[in-house]
This record gives sequence, structure tokens and C-alpha cells, in this order.
Amino acid sequence: METHQGQPSCFIILGASGDLAKKKLLPALFSLYCNKMLPEDFVVIGFARSSMDHKAFRNRIVENLTCRYGENEQDCAEKMDQFLDRCYYHSGQYDSTEDFESLNKKINEQYPDGANRLFYMSIPPSIFVKTAKSVGASGIMTVEEKFWSRVVIEKPFGEDTESSEKLLESLSKIFKEEQTYRIDHYLGKEVIQNLLILRFANRIFEPIWNQEHIQYVSIKFTEDIGVEGRAGYFDQYGIIRDVLQNHLMQILALVAMEQPVKFDAESIADEKVKALRSVPALTLDKVTVGQYAAIEKNGIKYPGYHDDPEVPDDSITDTYAHLQLAINNKRWYGVPFYLSAGKALNDRKTEIFIKFKDVPYSIFHETGKTNTNGLLIRVQPNESIEFQMANKVPGLGMNLEKVKLDMLYHDEFDGVLPEAYERLLLDVMRGDRSLFLQKYELQASWDIVTPILHELQEKNIQPKPYPYGSEGPDHGCPA
Ligand SMILES: NC(=O)c1ccc[n+]([C@@H]2O[C@H](COP(=O)([O-])OP(=O)(O)OC[C@H]3O[C@@H](n4cnc5c(N)ncnc54)[C@H](OP(=O)(O)O)[C@@H]3O)[C@@H](O)[C@H]2O)c1
Repeated sequence: METHQGQPSCFIILGASGDLAKKKLLPALFSLYCNKMLPEDFVVIGFARSSMDHKAFRNRIVENLTCRYGENEQDCAEKMDQFLDRCYYHSGQYDSTEDFESLNKKINEQYPDGANRLFYMSIPPSIFVKTAKSVGASGIMTVEEKFWSRVVIEKPFGEDTESSEKLLESLSKIFKEEQTYRIDHYLGKEVIQNLLILRFANRIFEPIWNQEHIQYVSIKFTEDIGVEGRAGYFDQYGIIRDVLQNHLMQILALVAMEQPVKFDAESIADEKVKALRSVPALTLDKVTVGQYAAIEKNGIKYPGYHDDPEVPDDSITDTYAHLQLAINNKRWYGVPFYLSAGKALNDRKTEIFIKFKDVPYSIFHETGKTNTNGLLIRVQPNESIEFQMANKVPGLGMNLEKVKLDMLYHDEFDGVLPEAYERLLLDVMRGDRSLFLQKYELQASWDIVTPILHELQEKNIQPKPYPYGSEGPDHGCPA
């Protein structure tokens, strides 16, 4: 990675007492620091309501810092101390203009000649707008021309088309589009970034990447734990809003889009939007929703969704969903895209599977498996790309077997894969918005799921129960 020696910069994390800040953002900033990717002169400022002094904040941060890039123990300890010395805490209310003014004053005192400012809204969606208003009114975002001021916003970006548009509209009055970075951390994952390279830097796939050769595409996200500790948040959203509308729809867009004119944020977003706009809104017959149920296995009790005290008795929130989408354009007409996501399933993984059609007529049809071509792209864990093909089983007979040509990231590439948040925070500093969501993509993906989200609720459709640790409910599709 290249060294990033920039202007003085302040990284201001709103909601710094929270989980995301502690587990992802601060460790990512520390890794960037260890990699010499932060400017020489920087400070990290945590902002939240909780009462804490700088020392308590640092003690909180240190719990999750790790040296992932091969530093020895002494180097690691020194780097942690140096990093923590630059971390400060400012307690305040999110809707208080005065509290942001007083923070602004402190920053101005520390950087009288100015500094870049990155604001990370790591706060619950219910307080996005009021926080943005007080940030805007305080003048803390105003910087001299030679510096930048940028804001990172975390999902969820609304609950449906209407609320998302309202949120975008409210925030656009405070932050300019070019300074807004809407994060979907999936886009920062190595394998997801590689999708464009796989498709457009290799000659071999593009000619067969269409309805003539592809039978279906499956994009799957599974978790082997339930909503432990997050039921209060999750019950208001469900898996379609939490995972499918954003992470999986973004993957669909990257798999399905045409080649962008250039490798830049706008050109990529243009093509993603076109692909998403070619997806007709879902109808109920193409959707299966489920909810995990309690089970006892080998003497261990696994709780059901309704066993969580934060889940209301009559909750019909989807903890599993399977969607069958179409893409009505020349490339994809007739190819189903199966998107599924679920909690409390039998595995933890995210995979993309491209299933190719069988050869039109196989002279080997009597010998065994022939319909075998598939491209499996594993996003997590154990990132890999695997091409499945038919092969003769060595020996005197004529038997065919499915075999794989595979590339495991950890075997192929030396070094540690960067965490998604490291990549994305670095891109915000560099002003590269290509891995962030543009507002039209957001609108296009909400348009696909909003009608069924409303219908599921209005018709009070009961999710199918599935046992904790199973494959999820039956959806009647091949993947
Ligand atoms: N955690 C993750 O892995 C993850 C992943 C993807 C997206 N996100 C999104 O990232 C954001 C932050 O996530 P998080 O898990 O860190 O959230 P969190 O812990 O629930 O909240 C962050 C901080 O916001 C303040 N806060 C919480 N509820 C509040 C309320 N009702 N009113 C005012 N302040 C409140 C709390 O700080 P004080 O009380 O000290 O002010 C809390 O420490 C959320 O939008 C979440 O949806 C999180």
C-alpha cells in the first residue's frame, strides 16, 4: 500500500461510546496508523453523551486494538501508546449546537491554521437528522478551501423508498452530495472489490456472462447465530432491510452491471443504477420469509427468535428471507437471481454462485454428471474463487466427476487482508467515493423491495418457522 502523507486531519466519531466505534472504526484507524496510511499530524476525537474522560476513552479503545500487520510485541505496544496519545473524548448531546460549537473551538485551538475533518456518524438512525442539524448549525463542518470536511453515514438509510428519500433530502440540506460518504462495508471487502477485476480485467468470463450461458445466480448470506444482544434494533428492521436491500443488492448490481465507461465512482454508480433499475419490484410469490425457532440438540437448548425478551410476542419480523429477482434487460432476461439471507442457520458465510447452463447436447450424458460448470465466489470466511468443471475420473472407465479449480486468497497472496473499514476510511481520506453508495443506487434498491415490505406487514404474513441451526425454511428454488 502506498504511504499517505496528508494535511493535518481530525477524525471525529459521533457515537464513539458504541459498538461499531469500539470494534471496527478505532481498530481500523489504528491499523491505518500502523501502516503509515494516516497523515503525520492527526487526532481522533470521540463524541458521545456518555460521561468519560480522555483516559477512560483510551482504556476503552485499547481493548480492541491489535497489530495485524506483523509488528513485533514491543513495536506494537509503542504504536498503541503513540496512537492512544492522539485520541481524545468530548462529551456532548447530539442535538446540541452548543456542544458541537465547543468541540469546534477546541479543534480550532489545536489547529489554528486549519485541518481536514472527517465526521463519522456511528449513531442510531433515529438520531441521524437531529445530529446532522446541530453539526451543520455549529459551523464545525466549515473549513478553509485548502482543507476538506467529509461525513460518513452508516446504514440503515431509511426503511423503505419514502423514508429513505426523506432522510436523503433532510441530510442534503446540511451536507453536500460530494462530501457525503454512504458506507456499505461489504463494498470494502477484498472479494467484492475484485468482482470488477474478475469480470472486466479477464477476457474469459465476459462473453459467457449472460442469459445464453448462465442458468441462475445465487447470492447467499448466512449467520450461525441469532440476534443475540441486537434484537431491539433488529426487530424494527428484519433481514430484508438489514442485509438484502443493501449488501446483497450491491453484490447483485456488481455481478449484473455492464462495464463502466471508466473506473471511477460516477461511472460505476451509473452502471449499477441501470442494473438495479432493470429489476422489477418483487411480488409476494417470489419471496419466502422465515423466523428461527427454538430447538434442543445434544442436550443444548438453542433459543428461538421469540425467546429474546426484546422481541414482542406478535413480531413477524423476518430473520430469514429468500427472494427471486429478475433483471429485465438483454443480458439477463430469463435468468433468476436468488438472494437469500438468514440468521441462526447452519453456517456462517457469504457466497456468490454463478451456475452455468449445461452443454446443449452432451455425448457423455450416459456417463454421469455433466451439468457441472459453476463459479463460486466466497466473500467470507476463507475468501476464495472456485471454478467447477466436469473432469474424467482417472482410470480405465469413462466416469465424469465435478472438480474444482480454486484460488484461496490466503494461499495465493502473502500478508493480511485489510479489513473493509480500513479500506473505506482510507478512501474517505483520499476523497475516493467509488466504494460508497450514490443516492440513486439507494433509491433503485429500495424500489425493488419496498412493495413487498409493505405487503408483508399489511397482510400480516407469518414467517415460516425454521429450527435454529438449520438450512432455513423451504423456498422451492434450486438455490
Ligand atoms: N455495530 C455494527 O457492527 C454495525 C454494522 C453496520 C452498521 N451499523 C450502524 O452503525 C451505527 C452505530 O452502530 P453501533 O452498533 O455502534 O450503535 P449503538 O452502540 O447502538 O450506538 C452508538 C452510540 O449512540 C448513542 N446512542 C444509542 N442509542 C441512542 C439514542 N436512542 N439516542 C441517542 N444516542 C444514542 C450511544 O452513545 P451515548 O449514549 O454515549 O451517546 C451509543 O454508544 C448504527 O447506525 C448502526 O445501525 C453498526
